Amino acid sequence: MPSFHTLRWHDGALDMLDQRALPERCVYLSYDCAQAVAEGIRSMVVRGAPAIGCAAAYGIALDALRLCHEPQAAFDSGMAHAFETLAQSRPTAVNLAWALERMRARLVTRHGTGTEDIAAALLAEAHVILEEDVVINRMMGRHGSALLQDGARVLTHCNAGALATAGHGTALGVIRSAVESGKNISVIADETRPFLQGARLTAWELMQDNIPVTLIADNAAGLMMSRGEVDAVIVGADRVAANGDVANKIGTYSVAVLARRHAIPFYVACPLSTIDLGIATGAGIPIEERAADEVTGYRDQRWAPAGVMVRNPVFDVTPAELVTGLITERGVVLAPDREKIARLKQPVELGPTHRNA
Ligand code: MRU
Repeated sequence: MPSFHTLRWHDGALDMLDQRALPERCVYLSYDCAQAVAEGIRSMVVRGAPAIGCAAAYGIALDALRLCHEPQAAFDSGMAHAFETLAQSRPTAVNLAWALERMRARLVTRHGTGTEDIAAALLAEAHVILEEDVVINRMMGRHGSALLQDGARVLTHCNAGALATAGHGTALGVIRSAVESGKNISVIADETRPFLQGARLTAWELMQDNIPVTLIADNAAGLMMSRGEVDAVIVGADRVAANGDVANKIGTYSVAVLARRHAIPFYVACPLSTIDLGIATGAGIPIEERAADEVTGYRDQRWAPAGVMVRNPVFDVTPAELVTGLITERGVVLAPDREKIARLKQPVELGPTHRNA
């Protein structure tokens, strides 16, 4: 188990590890309303698709608890505002919308039971979303670790670890599970310009667990691959379209092209909540553009000339044809396409003991 919590419910508030301060400082910030949680998501205190979904769920619960002593009409309009504010905090990761939909469904089923009851039900649902995320990551880890040989050198991009989820991680969860099963795995972490999630977060997180990690500049990946120093690539995802196109951190597409050029398997670890059947292809996935100062410098340091024109798209789309396999909680889907993904997303018929749970 990692020595940190990305998010944790504590004393009636949501504590989130401030990922902007890592690796220098491990600081937790406390959140007591949806508006503040939305700002925490927007400003990257918490980031990573599943983690922002969990944070948004708690944001809804926090406002329900805050407003549940108000008259019904004020509660209803306050909750509508909370959903709206959180939905607008970041556009690309579909887990955010997925978690909000799940919270909305819970709210609707409790309608008429009284606002205090609704607030308690929403908090319980946020806890379930958080706990389920770890279980799902462990399932993906089990399926994905079978793909890695003992001794594998795995390249990853961005941070798809415990810091990007409720725990264990998606891409790094596969690596953790392989290590737990006794395999000797080492990781090559792209630094991930411009926000440096690889250098600051993936390197830190793996070092906490004593998993060997070597940091490289993003543009060193091609050389490493051409020299036979990479056995597999595993990344996470922010949204997978119905045809298998994958939106993930900017630079992922370049890594996928390089991997194909060098016949290296390129895997995407993604829970089913990251697959959006409502979007036909990657071209329809909204790509977030962030502030220019993330490119012109970092924290207080500036290196680009003042006034230079900047573009900062922070995600890109890897076409399904470059994806060797999607690693999900239901297993690995090799060469994903529309039909395989539709089958994967079909609801599973639960046995009688589960049905009433
Ligand atoms: O901008 P970020 O740091 O939120 O981007 C995160 C990523 O791109 C991750 O790879 C993705 O969310 C998968 S996390 C399990």
